[in-house]
Amino acid sequence: MGERLPTDGVIALRPWNEADAGEMAACLDGDEEIARWLDQVPQPYTVADALAFLSRTGETTFAVVDAGSGGVLGGIGLRWNDAQDVAEIGYWARREARGRGVTTRALRLAGGLAFDQGAARVQLRADVENVPSRRVAEKAGFTAEGVLRDAHWNPRLGRRQSWVMYSVLPGELKS
Ligand SMILES: CC(C)(COP(=O)(O)OP(=O)(O)OC[C@H]1O[C@@H](n2cnc3c(N)ncnc32)[C@H](O)[C@@H]1OP(=O)(O)O)[C@@H](O)C(=O)NCCC(=O)NCCS
Repeated sequence: MGERLPTDGVIALRPWNEADAGEMAACLDGDEEIARWLDQVPQPYTVADALAFLSRTGETTFAVVDAGSGGVLGGIGLRWNDAQDVAEIGYWARREARGRGVTTRALRLAGGLAFDQGAARVQLRADVENVPSRRVAEKAGFTAEGVLRDAHWNPRLGRRQSWVMYSVLPGELKS
């Protein structure tokens, strides 16, 4: 490998690998918050679902791990536009790891990585009512630009979702 993993000393981002499939299923299966807000994540979530996810291409996805123990705390992914100058980020934290600033740390690292790789803009979308996700974006320095009204039908919520569009430009990430 030889490549340095993004870390802030508390958490680190590292690529997922097949050996993580069981842990990934343990994090995602049956979690109400993840089911509600991430309706593309299958439920129930099996090891086979994790392996299918890990074989996908076109996205850069990382495990968020404890920098000391290496234990998996969550996941964060970047998807680039065709011009490779705008990255969109998505994230989740396992239930036991929430409320400790883990995802805010992960978002700063992933945003920094995107800028290092040439992004002119990094964006994310969070449901208007997803307060923890919106807090994460704001704590990391993202600006709310507006609301994409009724942008997505979410069958698990039984309603259309309105997304707040957040973005951060080079130099704007907050440490
Ligand atoms: C959103 C999510 C990733 C946040 O992860 P996390 O590691 O707990 O995030 P952080 O600890 O960095 O920050 C969470 C913030 O939300 C706040 N928060 C959490 N639950 C809250 C609630 N019910 N009401 C208000 N604020 C809440 C926390 O207090 C914290 O803000 P603070 O530092 O100002 O106190 C996690 O809740 C999750 O996995 N949710 C399900 C999946 C999801 O929604 N993904 C995002 C889709 S856009």
